[in-house]
Amino acid sequence: MKVTVEASPSLALIKYWGKQDGDRNIPATSSLAVTLDGLSTRTTVLCDGEEDRISVNGVAQSTAGRFAALFNRVREVTGYAGRFTVRSRNNFATAAGLASSSSGFAALAVGCIRATGTELADEVCSAIARVGSASAARAVFGGFTVLREGAESAEKIHDESHWPDLRVVVCTVTERAKPMPSGMAMELSKRSSPFFPAWLEDSRVLFEDALEALAAKDLPRLGEAMRLSYLRMHATMLGASPPVIYAEPISLRLIQLCDELRRDGVGAWETMDAGPQVKIVCTVDDTDLVVRSLRREFPSLSLNVCRSGMGVRTVMEAVT
Ligand code: PMV
Repeated sequence: MKVTVEASPSLALIKYWGKQDGDRNIPATSSLAVTLDGLSTRTTVLCDGEEDRISVNGVAQSTAGRFAALFNRVREVTGYAGRFTVRSRNNFATAAGLASSSSGFAALAVGCIRATGTELADEVCSAIARVGSASAARAVFGGFTVLREGAESAEKIHDESHWPDLRVVVCTVTERAKPMPSGMAMELSKRSSPFFPAWLEDSRVLFEDALEALAAKDLPRLGEAMRLSYLRMHATMLGASPPVIYAEPISLRLIQLCDELRRDGVGAWETMDAGPQVKIVCTVDDTDLVVRSLRREFPSLSLNVCRSGMGVRTVMEAVT
């Protein structure tokens, strides 16, 4: 079978940062996320070839490491004994802190499973995607998801239509790949940051608070929890040895800008991941104002306004 699937990135509102174990990607913190529409990874999988092959944005990748782990897990679960040939393309910056690994591995897991002709429950697909990247376990689903501390798979807690007025303005500060992959930065934080144990404790409180705020569609309350989550995640990295600094000068200016907007009564709540990009959560009524304020200061900044989007979907299926 030849299958083409599309997946969208999972933006964490409350962050996963740190693994309970080294190589199975079992998260040490519970995360809460929204799957974004508009940004996507499109992946075509063919059950074919002498060896596994994968290209991302037209560039052949080494199939060692995370790719091999995922391909092998799909073979174990489906019983398929052959190899995979994969072409994957993102319509947004790759490995730059825009959660391309979440959509990339979610699309890869589901694409490989469907190409073998196997139907598996979403929960099982999510656990397989997690082998590539923990955030990918969430991106299998649309809407709002959680991946709990110690869990093998993510869960959908609200669907795409839960909060129709919510928007995320994604500000791409730079398309350059980040200096250190998130997995490495997490391990460094866990091993060497004196703040890491406090981060684990505190993120439990933020997670519970954010769950309630999301259910009640209370943006100021969700925004406060989100803000503490990403800043405290970055604080663990600043405390690591050597320190990991993902923010760029523009990122910091965007954070200040959100603060200024909030002081003027505009609900603009920013978050960041393992990269310099800033994502601003607001409601549809404030979106124009937020975009205009960003444009005034950064006329050429690349902006995408996203809603909550769908989980992995099949766009083409053919018997070869
Ligand atoms: O799933 P990974 O290994 O790409 O790590 C994702 C880490 C963050 O994006 C910083 C947080 C998250 O929960 O998505």
